[in-house]
Amino acid sequence: MRISDNSVIERLKELGVELRSSVSLAEKTSLEIGGTTDELLLRRYDTIPAVMRLLADAKIPHRFLGGGTNVLIPDGELPWVVLHLPKADPGMRIEGNAAFIDASADLGGMVTFCAKRDLGGMEGLIGVPGSVGGALRMNAGAYGTQIGTWVREVELYRAASGEVETVRGNDIHFDYRHTSFSPDDVMLRVKLELPSKPYKEILAGIRVCNEKRRASQPLNQKSAGCIFKNPPGGSAGRMIDELKLKGHRVGDAMVSDRHANFFVNVAHATCDDMLRLIDDVRERVRGAYGVELENEVIFWKN
Ligand code: EPU
Repeated sequence: MRISDNSVIERLKELGVELRSSVSLAEKTSLEIGGTTDELLLRRYDTIPAVMRLLADAKIPHRFLGGGTNVLIPDGELPWVVLHLPKADPGMRIEGNAAFIDASADLGGMVTFCAKRDLGGMEGLIGVPGSVGGALRMNAGAYGTQIGTWVREVELYRAASGEVETVRGNDIHFDYRHTSFSPDDVMLRVKLELPSKPYKEILAGIRVCNEKRRASQPLNQKSAGCIFKNPPGGSAGRMIDELKLKGHRVGDAMVSDRHANFFVNVAHATCDDMLRLIDDVRERVRGAYGVELENEVIFWKN
């Protein structure tokens, strides 16, 4: 979608928003799949309510893109613009055991920033790609750690009220890859409270997680991490593997031969290739196990 109305373009400028025309979202996602649209870079959180009102008044549909590591986006010209919070430098600050982190910060960068200041607890999150905002929204987790455990406050733009609000950690439900945030809430900043731990000890924990991940996941391939959530008490990866589907392909979308719950783009997969592979595998698992796998990756339906 192209923003062509000059009055909208002028007003965006006044609100400190940078407009980039015809951006390829394949270049902004870890799957390297996605069509083109205009992108708005929101550098000033205080003007977000005004930007959102402007887009609503001008009837410009939009989606928020974080780190782009857990999303599957259609191909072609997209019918909405993409909003993005660019990274601030460093966008992170420590006060005692509290860490104040911008949602745009890199998740792994946050883990090491805190570790160097002797704050641990997040070792398991080290290799999870993506932004802090995306991790908050999904309650990202790995190796027994989930980000929600450490959250004390979240500053967010709440579409329902049209305002920037601060929500206390106790008022947020963090479950397995799910939170009580509304789908149109936009994460802006988080306050975490972290346990003190010597840097060397944290580093040892980080190394263990990195090794486990390297041994079991296709880290150097184009993927969105795990495609399906694990069903209660089960493992999507193990079931898909048992069905001998590693290497199974639709076009250029393939079930990883390293970890069966990672679907990789081996060359120039289209969104349709990936969707057909997801549906095919879901169908086979349903047929063999009677289990309906739920997507973990977020599909941006047009
Ligand atoms: N397994 C297989 N074959 C495979 C993959 C796994 O038999 O191809 C078996 C493993 O041997 C193991 C079990 O399945 O017994 C579980 O596998 P793994 O330890 O790799 O963990 P997972 O449940 O597949 C989850 C998260 C990952 C996270 C790891 C480590 C989900 C959907 N996935 O994977 O998160 O990195 O644990 O904590 O919860 C993601 O969210 O995108 C993601 C990759």
